[in-house]
Amino acid sequence: ARDYPFIMIMFGGAGDLARKKLAPTLFRPYRDNLLAHDFRVIGFARTQLNSQAYMAMIKESVIKHCEDPAPEDMLNEFVSHFEFISANFEDDSKYEEVRAAVEKGLPGVSQENLNLLHYLAAPPDSAPVIIDRLKHHGLAQGPGRVRVIMEKPFGGDRASARALNQRVLNAFDENQVFRIDHYLGKETVQNLMFFRFGNNVFEPLWNRNYVDHIQITAAEDIGIETRGNFYEQAGVVRDIIQNHMLQLAAHTAMEPPASFDADAVRDEKFKIYKSFRKVDEEYLRHNMVRGQYGPGRYGEQAVPGYREEANVAKDSVSPTFFAGKFYIDNWRWSGVPFYLRAGKRLNKRITEIYVEFKQPPLKLMGSACQDAPNALHLQIQPEESITLRFNAKQPGVGNIPHPSLLEFNYSKAFQTASYPPYARLLLDCLRGDLTLFARQDGVEAMWSVVDPIIQYWEDNPPANFPNYKAGTWGPEDADELMGRDGRRWRDFA
Ligand code: BG6
Repeated sequence: ARDYPFIMIMFGGAGDLARKKLAPTLFRPYRDNLLAHDFRVIGFARTQLNSQAYMAMIKESVIKHCEDPAPEDMLNEFVSHFEFISANFEDDSKYEEVRAAVEKGLPGVSQENLNLLHYLAAPPDSAPVIIDRLKHHGLAQGPGRVRVIMEKPFGGDRASARALNQRVLNAFDENQVFRIDHYLGKETVQNLMFFRFGNNVFEPLWNRNYVDHIQITAAEDIGIETRGNFYEQAGVVRDIIQNHMLQLAAHTAMEPPASFDADAVRDEKFKIYKSFRKVDEEYLRHNMVRGQYGPGRYGEQAVPGYREEANVAKDSVSPTFFAGKFYIDNWRWSGVPFYLRAGKRLNKRITEIYVEFKQPPLKLMGSACQDAPNALHLQIQPEESITLRFNAKQPGVGNIPHPSLLEFNYSKAFQTASYPPYARLLLDCLRGDLTLFARQDGVEAMWSVVDPIIQYWEDNPPANFPNYKAGTWGPEDADELMGRDGRRWRDFA
């Protein structure tokens, strides 16, 4: 990315995302000398700030959110690339200011070589307004490359996602649009493709003949923090399942792409979303579990329930937990259940893809092997690791199998902190690589998977919320969902 001088307009540039993620992660490639010397970041938001105060704000957030301390003069140099325009998103004159800044460009960089990035980190309802203005003020196309980075949620269901996209494609071409899902920037998620397609030993087993079932867990110990308003509208399905979880499922289930080109990869993922079994109400009633956390404890610390959080209704029915069983009806996965679960205020923070293999055809070693089937654990966080469980012989007389592990651990193997997902994705965007970004047809197809669940739940409000205590693993119904199939969720205790 050193060869890509850029100007980035950060809409919502003083907000949470910009301060917690964008500025600190941009600092990482800057420090690693991966950014061109010429770049500018223009924060554009309603907050009343001048550029001086903005630089101070950015500096503070980099210090707060970066793992390693950075030298003062380096920080000062970094923030000198930032400036701020205090503006209402409707205010046309301010877009003219942006245009003037873009036309002024960067020293020694021709307009043709200039990359213009619009980062939409503002509240989702402002996206259409901003996009229309960008087009109107000639900021959507340029002599150089112009790109727009969009944050989820991409709509609130399939219909609104489609409407939003029409608006976007009225101003930009699809290949200018970078829809971020930061889970795709996580090392182990990317590693899944290397693991599956860079080796020859796993792929032959990666199908209905050998795989018993797959579990994907995204557990968080935090609550909804300050996002009550958002979460009341979104709930867990829109927040996590429609995007992060289905992305993980697609990377696990997809066919090998013909190449690593963005569209080759995204074509295969799209096919997975389209292959999710369409389900009726009867199926939804028995195979989808929702939950909402009540008050609970983490050790000594007592935490409030969801309904006690700020900006949440006292009788809210917004779900904070999801567990469900899905089928991908294609040749490879027919009949293999994919169990997905995610939730807030669970026992601990862990995200893992778990692939359990079928038992050997004969129990030559007795029934003990039955309890420890071969399994692959792809842990995405907090550890980044891949572990294969197999049975070895316990020493001594007798034939007693001993479950053993073959492990790859990112931090042990590379002795370095993995690259922050946003940094990786920002660099990809600069380089014009769309592989790890969602394509519109994929976004719509993902909505088609979850829309019936959301609809069914909205039509049938729960009577038993809150139904799990903060600090536990969610409602009992989730265990029963597995238990009925003679299976268990992974135990992360
Ligand atoms: C975001 C969700 O997309 O992902 C949050 O909106 C969630 O609710 C977050 O907490 C989880 O991200 P990570 O990287 O901490 O797993």
